[in-house]
Amino acid sequence: MQIKVTTTPITQVSCNTLIINLFEENIILDKITGMLDKALGGHISTLIAEQPDCKKYGEISIIHTWGTISAKHIMVLGMGKKAELTVDKICALSGLAMRAAQKRHAKSVATMISGITTEKYDLQTTIQAIVEGAILGTYQFNYYKTNQPTPDRIEELIIIENKAEKKAIITQVIERAKIIGESVNLARDLVNHPSIYMTPTQMAIQAQSIAEQNNLEILILDREDMEKEGMFALLSVAKGSSQPPKMIVLKYIGNPSSHKFTAFVGKGVTFDSGGISIKPSLNMGDMKGDMAGGATILATMLGIGKLKPKVNILGIIPCTENMPSGHAYKPGDIISSMSGKSIEIITTDAEGRLILADAITYAQQLGATQIIDVATLTGACVVALGNITSGLVSNNKELCSQVMASAVQTGEKMWELPNFPEYIEQIKSDIADLKNSGGRMAGAITAGLFIGQFVNDIPWVHIDIAGTSDIDKTSGYLVKGGTGVGVRTLIQLAENMSTR
Ligand code: BES
Ligand code: MN
Ligand code: ZN
Repeated sequence: MQIKVTTTPITQVSCNTLIINLFEENIILDKITGMLDKALGGHISTLIAEQPDCKKYGEISIIHTWGTISAKHIMVLGMGKKAELTVDKICALSGLAMRAAQKRHAKSVATMISGITTEKYDLQTTIQAIVEGAILGTYQFNYYKTNQPTPDRIEELIIIENKAEKKAIITQVIERAKIIGESVNLARDLVNHPSIYMTPTQMAIQAQSIAEQNNLEILILDREDMEKEGMFALLSVAKGSSQPPKMIVLKYIGNPSSHKFTAFVGKGVTFDSGGISIKPSLNMGDMKGDMAGGATILATMLGIGKLKPKVNILGIIPCTENMPSGHAYKPGDIISSMSGKSIEIITTDAEGRLILADAITYAQQLGATQIIDVATLTGACVVALGNITSGLVSNNKELCSQVMASAVQTGEKMWELPNFPEYIEQIKSDIADLKNSGGRMAGAITAGLFIGQFVNDIPWVHIDIAGTSDIDKTSGYLVKGGTGVGVRTLIQLAENMSTR
């Protein structure tokens, strides 16, 4: 989708669909909409008079213009109550409006922003939300359908701004928002592909391509390399699978004079059957998305590589399948890890924390001075927070609030879970240093704290996206399937660190 800004008067912008935003509070039309209404012979004011509900949040009404202005149709978009507007809602409204236009085969859409910007939301924030919403909301996953007509795609989005002096800044914001939106959509693709395709090897190929596009350093460890490094926690999980595991490392250096390295670590289980502790078959196919954390990190590295903030970032993605077989690791086993800590296996289905343990040890060996990990880690987190909010566990107030602040800026919802040391009792083993399950109680917290046991006194935040990494219903800027959650927050965080 091409996205551009124009100062052409609204009645002369040629496009298929022109989006007009109406708040419930809009009793009289503003100057520009009023002008448009006049050109249309009063169709907009008639619509408002006869169908006042058209201003409710997410309502869409179409008016044909019959040649009175250059746009073919007007889409009146209900914005709801102005006081209830949030950045996330601007993004969602843009997503749903653009998706509706796409469904109506519009190739070219124009939108006005005057009226949305308020004291609360400046021009930049608004444009960014609109552009991201447009790119995310029109996302489609079409790789596997055969014999389909070419899918509808909006080719052009025109942002109308009558003040010529704002054109340059808007163009800048568009470029940045495009990079971010397309990065999120990459993460969605990676999650939506089935595990028969998105194997650890394919994850490595994807990483290679991202590295080449952005001149990032890349290192991929295979099974033999991992054996040399002593990554026995990751290797144990990989034992049952015929797909070879990969440890992916991407390195972005945006501030060569600094020794600081933030490691972004993502769980890359390309299929989680549960292993010998096999999962029930109902919805097991969803576990193709158990590499969503890894997808988030790959996509974040793509975005960072393009936006070039002045920070140093390591992207680390341990990748493997978790499968049952005669070679598989078993409940009751005691395994070693790269850190040297021994782990009693209570269940082979608590595999994410095992591969993350080694990835985190490795991150520190590579020089990480702080760590953020992202993982579809626990069903317990889904029970606690649903598919709305991701759960955080951290050892550091400062870094945790930086992550939370970045999430708020982008509209992603995150919430910190308590991390009292009492919880650690649950993951102590009688016969090994740790056990990989603390039982059902506080499952999201004990899983997070298990990972934390491998962090040596540096700031760390764990983000559990088990509930938020995919959704089963399209709405707002979210499209059924992978959400790409975390990408916007982590890119924002990298940029916020850059200004410091
Ligand atoms: N990948 C799952 C967690 C998950 C659950 C992700 C639902 C997405 C949706 C993870 O590996 C897992 O199986 N966790 C177990 C841990 C338990 C056995 C200690 C769980 O949450 O049931
Ligand atoms: Mn599992
Ligand atoms: Zn898993």
